[in-house]
Amino acid sequence: MTEPAGGSTAVAPRRGSTLLEVSELTAAYGPVRALDGVSLRAGTGEITAVLGANGAGKTTLLRTISGLVRSSSGRVTLDGEDITAAPVEVMVRKGMAHVPEGRGVIAELTVEENLRVGALFRGKVGRAEFDRVYDLFPRIAERRDNPAHTLSGGERQMLVIGRALLAQPRMLLLDEPSLGLAPRIVAQIFALLRELVDRDGLSVLLVEQNARSALSVADVGIVLNLGRVVATDSAAALLADEQLRHAYLGF
Ligand SMILES: Nc1ncnc2c1ncn2[C@@H]1O[C@H](COP(=O)(O)OP(=O)(O)OP(=O)(O)O)[C@@H](O)[C@H]1O
Ligand SMILES: [Mg+2]
Repeated sequence: MTEPAGGSTAVAPRRGSTLLEVSELTAAYGPVRALDGVSLRAGTGEITAVLGANGAGKTTLLRTISGLVRSSSGRVTLDGEDITAAPVEVMVRKGMAHVPEGRGVIAELTVEENLRVGALFRGKVGRAEFDRVYDLFPRIAERRDNPAHTLSGGERQMLVIGRALLAQPRMLLLDEPSLGLAPRIVAQIFALLRELVDRDGLSVLLVEQNARSALSVADVGIVLNLGRVVATDSAAALLADEQLRHAYLGF
């Protein structure tokens, strides 16, 4: 990265500079090749949407980036540092958090106890960090002493995002946060992501089948089909590409 003219060495990374880089990533489940040489980058302070139909490889991509699935070849770097297949506690320490598909919470634990899980691999997570999550999600704050199994789908999604934020990530990987939620709740969650990105400089890799909503909040979009990248462009350009939308995005 080049230094801005007259800039000091202590400046925050520039918006849009590469934070996460995936190069020629390949992953397979036995004979099924789920990722076939995927390369992409996600910028600092940006939302990068990864789109594509069922089975395109979106979840596998996130799982391979965060080391849950082993790649057969390729490389993942975070801020220039090779993190390919690093153990989860290393990933978390380096600033990567993954919110998996399906909003898994520990049903018998309270909301606050579930949030504490997110802070596990981070040394000093204090009251202020919890309060910040509660400020972001007032619904979660109201339910903090309730068991997680009593939450609605939307509240659960907020809880798992809050839990990931307690690990104080730079790069948040989100797998299908909109799935099965009412449009109003989806809009609320996406607006909040946008706020975190614009205000705090968080960087997000957002996997979505709901391409229209994802592109309305994202800066950049990447379209996967059968484990390969078929398009990468600004969100606005992808929204305007009728042929591509019809072929791969279902709208
Ligand atoms: N655990 C697994 N074992 C075997 N094959 C798998 C496994 N997980 C995924 N696959 C296969 O890998 C391919 C990519 O799946 P993946 O779940 O990454 O797609 P996706 O884009 O997330 O789909 P969806 O939109 O339905 O969530 C598919 O062909 C799928 O059947
Ligand atoms: Mg998936």
